Amino acid sequence: MAQQYHFDTNKITAGYHASENQLAVSPPIYQTTAYDFKSAKHAENLFAYEEAGYLYSRVGNPTVTYFAERVKALDGGKNVLAVGSGMAAITYTLLNLTNGKGTILASPYLYGGSIDSFDRLFPDLGIQIKLTKSILDPEALEAEITEDVKAIFVESISNPNAYLVDLDKISEVAHRHHIPVVVDNTVATPYLYQPFAHGADIVVYSATKGLTGHGNIIAGIIEDNGKTEYYTKQAYPQFYTPIHMLKGKSIAEQFPDNPFISRILLVYLNFLGAALSPHDAYLGILGIETLSERVAKQSANALKIAEYLEKSPAVEWVRYPGLKSYPFKELADKILIHGFGGLLSFGITGTKEQKAAFLDHLELFHYHVNLGDVRSLIVNSPDTTHSELTEKEKEIADIPANLIRISAGLEDADDLIQDLEQGFRAAGLI
Ligand SMILES: Cc1ncc(COP(=O)(O)O)c(C=O)c1O
Repeated sequence: MAQQYHFDTNKITAGYHASENQLAVSPPIYQTTAYDFKSAKHAENLFAYEEAGYLYSRVGNPTVTYFAERVKALDGGKNVLAVGSGMAAITYTLLNLTNGKGTILASPYLYGGSIDSFDRLFPDLGIQIKLTKSILDPEALEAEITEDVKAIFVESISNPNAYLVDLDKISEVAHRHHIPVVVDNTVATPYLYQPFAHGADIVVYSATKGLTGHGNIIAGIIEDNGKTEYYTKQAYPQFYTPIHMLKGKSIAEQFPDNPFISRILLVYLNFLGAALSPHDAYLGILGIETLSERVAKQSANALKIAEYLEKSPAVEWVRYPGLKSYPFKELADKILIHGFGGLLSFGITGTKEQKAAFLDHLELFHYHVNLGDVRSLIVNSPDTTHSELTEKEKEIADIPANLIRISAGLEDADDLIQDLEQGFRAAGLI
């Protein structure tokens, strides 16, 4: 049996064996579109998924596999697939669970692009995604689980306002009704939070963010815990449809241990085609090698910044899981295992013009929409990443107009604080 290693060992070793790659220490970039068939029989077997192997890089590439397997080892997942973006990971996952009908119960505390897709993409495909505040009250949530609910969708730490959810309780409720729980673990990363250990069935990432952490790729990950009991013929018939390519077998017959990810590969990655490039997968692997070190420093920097902001007259409120004033502090202390992360938000005082002047005068912080980068980033989320939300959605999601989001990087915290201070001064707020 393979040796079980700890997190920090897995992040630089899991899923890749130099002995299978000319002894190359760093995983090679398999920059190829396709793979030669050894024979006509080999081609037939690959196309029918009767033999493992690579045939075309839209649906499989060794470097992409190494990347995906590494993330899986960090989360303790069972099956995994890397795709071309976080949005592809979320969309493919929800399409796979619904297949043109049904409802997903979702947290309102989510990335704006997710909420936007729930309004503007899914209803046209016959899928309702219902945002519910009951996500914070699992008993009330249970009352909302009707026959047509196919899954529950949450972010473990929400973007932009760092809400937490009690996943253990949500999962208990969902599992009583035989539906899976999907967790977007982008902000937390596997270093801070392990969703499978708290009952998640499916985990998705925008691997663009802190997971890989250098602000140089767009990537997504979908993992599951290998449980198949939810996927009954009655509730999820899509797994039981005979497929010609599989010689008339269904996904459930051909992949009894992995129907969920296999169907995403065969249907959505294959036909919608958001494939991750091998070069980006390689950059992702490099990024993961320093995940713990990066997130630990980001957490330390974010805490110092949050403490500074809490005392500033230019600031109305601060939300950061490391602060005593944080509304979910007890939960944060219980579930966040190595710190409180790099993401924090605050409410700036003053007028709209002063907010703009503050942002315009920052010198060290990058003003843009990414997060989890080695560089510190700042953004006015209600006017940018969450600008597509209606006023009602912003109210439900608790995103006030004066919210500013910070993603702390790896610079010296004192320099970052000095930058914020001079920005507030230039805006006439202090
Ligand atoms: C929490 C969260 N999930 C998903 C996404 C979408 O990821 P991507 O930009 O890689 O498509 C983002 C992007 O900001 C995000 O913050």
